[in-house]
Amino acid sequence: MNGRWPLIAGLVLIAAGLAGIVGLYPALMPGGMGMMMGTDGMMGRGGMKRMMQAMMGNMLPLGINPASLPQPHSEGARLMQHYCTQCHGLPGPGLHTATQWPAVVTRMVARERMMSDRDMMGIQALSAGEQATLLAYLQKHAQIPLNKATAKGLDTPAGRAFSATCSQCHALPDPAQHTAADWPAVVLRMQRNMVAMGKPAPPRSTLHAIDAYLRKYAKPPGEEDSEKGAGLDAGTR
Ligand code: HEC
Ligand code: HEC
Repeated sequence: MNGRWPLIAGLVLIAAGLAGIVGLYPALMPGGMGMMMGTDGMMGRGGMKRMMQAMMGNMLPLGINPASLPQPHSEGARLMQHYCTQCHGLPGPGLHTATQWPAVVTRMVARERMMSDRDMMGIQALSAGEQATLLAYLQKHAQIPLNKATAKGLDTPAGRAFSATCSQCHALPDPAQHTAADWPAVVLRMQRNMVAMGKPAPPRSTLHAIDAYLRKYAKPPGEEDSEKGAGLDAGTR
């Protein structure tokens, strides 16, 4: 991450420092607050999104299709689409594990509050209740990471393809979080996520090998798959 410090500095300027600059040095902003904060001006919301994308590249989620969200009509999915696309593309719960999400959400909501308190770019912040609902949604559908110490078959061609391909955007997934019957649809969705998020999609033959690997170490059939994470299958694994 060391090479990223200039980018992080840029982020701090845009997502945090802007309020300070505008407040302290209004003379430096000839267009005034209107230009900075307007919705159409250079630094309107669209302009800010584009500038952040240019400066921070792959630190920002590029955005998935809202239909890819688990339970797309739930309140959690609605909150994601409303609040979490204000600065960057739509993220998905599978991007982090249940343990990782609280810190990420806290960081994002702090930015939202800082900006909404100062009336910046029309950014809206989640209420405390909405934040709790959103966090519960993210944790319920979070990524379940593979324990590499006990994982099998990682040192085979298919296992290596799986490790290299499926750890680019989130923790390497535990194949036991889905049944063999459910994996192909997830792999196809990931192929679409790769296109949406600007990552190279591997050739079909590689995807087939990965799919075979996942199905080999999948959860035994018969266990409820659609409610992944609901009870974390604690007693049945
Ligand atoms: C006010 C602007 C803003 C809003 C609103 C916002 N983000 Fe972010 N987000 C950022 C910035 C800037 C970065 C890059 C720096 C970083 O990771 O902190 C980022 C990065 C991310 C990342 C990639 C980095 C990582 O740690 O995985 C995720 C995931 C993410 N945001 C999720 C969310 C979620 C979920 C929400 C809704 C609760 C949200 N964001 C709302 C500004 C915002
Ligand atoms: C381009 C980035 C990217 C790559 C590469 C990627 N994923 Fe994902 N993954 C996502 C995003 C975004 C989500 C959350 C949205 C969703 O579920 O589609 C996610 C969510 C998941 C989830 C949790 C949701 C669920 O349905 O269980 C699993 C499991 C998963 N990915 C497995 C994989 C596997 C297996 C691979 C390798 C074939 C892979 N991912 C490669 C971006 C990626």
